[in-house]
Order: sequence, then structure tokens, then C-alpha cells
Amino acid sequence: MSDDVYKFDLTGQTFKRDPFPTFRDMRAIGPLVTNRLPIVGQITFATTYEAATKLLKQADGFSVELSRAGNSRFGLLLKLLPGGIKLLSKNMLQQDDPEHRRLRQLVDGAFRRQEISGLETAIERIALELMQKLKASDDGDLVQHVARDLPLAVISEMLGLPPEDRDKFHNWMAVMTDVSSVISIFKIMPALNKIIAYMRGVIEQRRLEPRDDLISALVLAEEEGDQLSDDEIVSMVFLLFAAGHETTTHLISGGTLALLQNKEQMERLFAAPSLLPSAVDELLRFVSPVQMTKPRFVVEDCEFMGRSFKRGQMLMALLASANSDEAAFDAPDQLELSRQPNRHLAFGAGPHFCLGAWLARKEMEIYLGVLMREMPDVKLAIGEDEVRWTKRGGMRALRSLPLMG
Ligand code: HEM
Repeated sequence: MSDDVYKFDLTGQTFKRDPFPTFRDMRAIGPLVTNRLPIVGQITFATTYEAATKLLKQADGFSVELSRAGNSRFGLLLKLLPGGIKLLSKNMLQQDDPEHRRLRQLVDGAFRRQEISGLETAIERIALELMQKLKASDDGDLVQHVARDLPLAVISEMLGLPPEDRDKFHNWMAVMTDVSSVISIFKIMPALNKIIAYMRGVIEQRRLEPRDDLISALVLAEEEGDQLSDDEIVSMVFLLFAAGHETTTHLISGGTLALLQNKEQMERLFAAPSLLPSAVDELLRFVSPVQMTKPRFVVEDCEFMGRSFKRGQMLMALLASANSDEAAFDAPDQLELSRQPNRHLAFGAGPHFCLGAWLARKEMEIYLGVLMREMPDVKLAIGEDEVRWTKRGGMRALRSLPLMG
């Protein structure tokens, strides 16, 4: 068990192209590996399936709330943040039980109700429209024409955002993805304030005239006499957008690349669409678009998996490494679309397990169905060595993916 601090590169092209060797090296050091990251500083990764699961399920010793762990570096940063960011960051992913449970129960019912009200037809329609756009484009870029827009369009439709406002809303959201530095956080403020003001307006309208959409369901959500406040709804809607759009984008693009790089598997899938549900889970495991969870802060000095931790120290579950752990998966570096069982951690585990897992799976399944019908001979339009990944930490994200066929 090592207390050393390492400097694994988790953002460069070599790592993003093939992360498996780095994860193997990290797991060879141990289930807990301390690494230095830009901005964030020192962080300990749970690298194995066992360590990642324990960290996420053992909620008492660890907190997602910085204020409970007195981490001075982040505490100061948080105090300096503008009010709008504080409002949006007070979401359930950054709160522990019992407040987390309260918010999750209120949103769970409202969110799940959408599943039964014609959502599949809407996703199919959106996927088909976007695929036609891709086929008619000059560059054939899957990221730009399909992967980015599909999850945004779906969540906008679920929320019930008026179609005429969607472009404007999506442009504001696009600005929000760059939070790579403290300066960039301040740069996004104008867009953020517009989103908050716009959302407050929509919430007010839905209070007066509820419709059959998710914002109305959130406004009306009630558990034992308890309801969500307007601030909580704004922050919840923002979380649904932020957590649900980029993540699925990278599953669609990264999953398509994985299929193109594993021709024999792709042909099997295209010949037998009944493989789709297990293929989606295997692509989730193999790509692991969300490579690591949000930080868990040590609440009290403690021992975890044989190592001592001080109050305020940060740990993260390195989901992508857990998903390639030989102790949990046979031949983890290989894509095996009919892999059973496949208890991957791509959606996390424990109390913060992804709320939108069912939606992400459905979007990917429907997208793949449309891809195999509309582009049965799909191929990469560039050489594999020309494929570029973003440098974004924590996400396995393609910059573009030009297709033909
Ligand atoms: C491929 C797509 C997706 C992946 C890989 C993914 C992954 C994750 C992961 C790993 C977490 C846990 C983070 C942590 O514990 O720190 C999470 C939480 C969450 N996700 Fe997803 N997600 C995806 C799609 C979605 C979608 C489509 C939505 C909704 C529209 C969504 C909404 C959420 C929410 C609200 C949480 C917080 C849950 C809580 O704190 O109780 N996600 N997701």
C-alpha cells in the first residue's frame, strides 16, 4: 500500500486513445493511488472495482459536501464564487442525506413519469432527424450533428421548453461547459444569469398553468407535504441538463468509435439487433464516458482500505479503471457486446447512482437502432490515428467523429 504521490497523465491523447494500460499501471500500485491534478491538487483515486464500490456505498465516512469536511483550499474557492454558481451548485449531487434523499425522492417520481408518456417515440423522431442532418452534411461529423444535439433535444422536450427558445437555451448551455479555470468560471456568469432568469420565468408560468412536462411535474412534486422551492427547481433543472447532456454525447460518439474499431462485434450487432440492450451496457463499461465521480471528502480522520486519511482529504472513484479491473471482468480490455453479467460502474453506485441511467440507456439504444438502419455500411471517414479527444479531465470525450457510408 503506497502513500506516494504520482503524476499519471489522465488528459493527454495517448491516455484518451487507450486508457487501459494507464489504469492497469495504477491498479498495480494498489486500490488507492494518490495523484496530483491541475487546479484540484492532490486526490486519491479508488482504482479497483472493490475500492470504488466501497467508497461510493460507504457514505457515512465520506461526504460530497465540502462544508462538512473543512477542506480549506476548496472552502476558500467556494466562498469567492458568484451567487448564481452557488445557487446551481446546491444540487442533490453535492448534498448528503437526509437533504439528498429528500430532493431525490421529489425528483425521482416526476422524472420517471416521463418514461411512460411517449418518450421512446420522441427519441426515435429526434434521432432520425439528426441522422438525416448528418447524412446531408459535408463533414459527416457525428459529434456535431447527432451526439451533441440528441441528448439536449430529448431533455428539452422532456422539460417542455418551448421549441422557439431551444436554440437560445442550448447556446447558453454550450458556454457553460468550459469551467476549466477560475477565470473561465467568471466568464460564464452572463450566460448563467440568463439561464437562471429564463428558468424562473418558465417555472412561474407552469405554476399558473401546469402542462404534461417535467418542469410542471417538478413544480407539482410532493412527498408527505413537502415540495421543491423555486431555487431548488432551477438548480435541479440545471443539474439534469449538465449531468444528462454531455455524458450521453460522449457515450454516443465514443461508443460508435468503439464499434468501428471492433468491426466483427459491430457486424454481429447489426445482424442481431436483439443484442442491443447488452451492447449498450458493454459500451458504457468499455467507453466509461464519465471516467471518475465527483470528489468525496473525508469527514473525520479515518482508515479506508488499509490507509489513513485526514479530515478534508479528497477521494474519487475512478470508474473507468474499476470498469477495466481484471478481478471483476474477464478480458476487460476487449469489447464483448454479449458480456453477461456486466455489473459496470459507469453510472456510479450508492446513493448518488445516476438518476438518468434508464434515459441514457434508452437514448443510446434508439440511436444505435437508427444508425444500423440509416447507415448500415458506416465507416470512419478519417484514419484511426487522426481521431482526436478533448483534454477535458474526468470525461472521455471525442472532439469530432467524421463518418461515411
Ligand atoms: C451515458 C450517460 C450518463 C453517464 C455515464 C452518467 C454518469 C453518472 C455518474 C457516474 C453519476 C454519479 C456521480 C457521482 O457519484 O459523483 C451520475 C449522477 C447523476 N446523473 Fe448521470 N450519467 C449519464 C446520463 C444522465 C442523464 C441522461 C441524466 C438526466 C437527464 C443524468 C442525471 C444524473 C443526476 C441527476 C445525477 C445525480 C444523482 C444524485 O446525486 O442522486 N445522468 N451520473
